[in-house]
Amino acid sequence: MSDAKKLAAEKAIDYVQDGMIVGVGTGSTVAYFIDALAAWKDRIAGAVSSSEQSTARLRAHGIEVLDLNATGPLPLYVDGADECDRHKRLIKGGGAALTREKIIAEASERFVCIIDPSKQVEVLGRFPLPVEVIPMARSLVAREILRMTGGQPVWRDGVITDNGNWILDVHNLAITDPVALERELNQIPGVVSVGLFARRPADVVIVGGQPPQVL
Ligand code: 5RP
Repeated sequence: MSDAKKLAAEKAIDYVQDGMIVGVGTGSTVAYFIDALAAWKDRIAGAVSSSEQSTARLRAHGIEVLDLNATGPLPLYVDGADECDRHKRLIKGGGAALTREKIIAEASERFVCIIDPSKQVEVLGRFPLPVEVIPMARSLVAREILRMTGGQPVWRDGVITDNGNWILDVHNLAITDPVALERELNQIPGVVSVGLFARRPADVVIVGGQPPQVL
């Protein structure tokens, strides 16, 4: 599987252009992308990072990490996913970086998602849906999600996000209308963000393989 991740990540370099500021996601697939981006470090204007983990890896390669407030809109965002359907709608947040990932995806003109074939699904929801919550709202949000969806929220105990918040993973969902569910869960007070990327899906999906498949 790591071969497939690496092949997808390396193919995403095709979308990098001279002078660009590149949005960079989080996770093991993105780690391969950052390693490949290192060869471009003198040709790009820098990167905007979605996590402390990716920031450390970018800096270790000598790639400058910039503040999104200073860059304005980005031409390109490259990130992985936990699940991807045929409409390029995603579940993300397995690495707990969903909120910053969503912000960068929203700020970007083109979102290139890099996955291995195991991430492709007919219906989103087999992977437990991550929801970032303000700590004091954890049980309130969990009760509300159970009531609204019937899914089982499980606290990712011991994990604190880069924003100082907690994660609920919602099990046993079959998400037939991801746009509506994303909108509804976003309304619950205490929800910071939902790991459904349906309102703003990926623009391009690269599935790692020999050769990589570009969707
Ligand atoms: C992090 C994410 C990752 O993109 C997702 O978990 C996939 O990770 P990996 O590339 O390690 O399989 O959303 O919050």
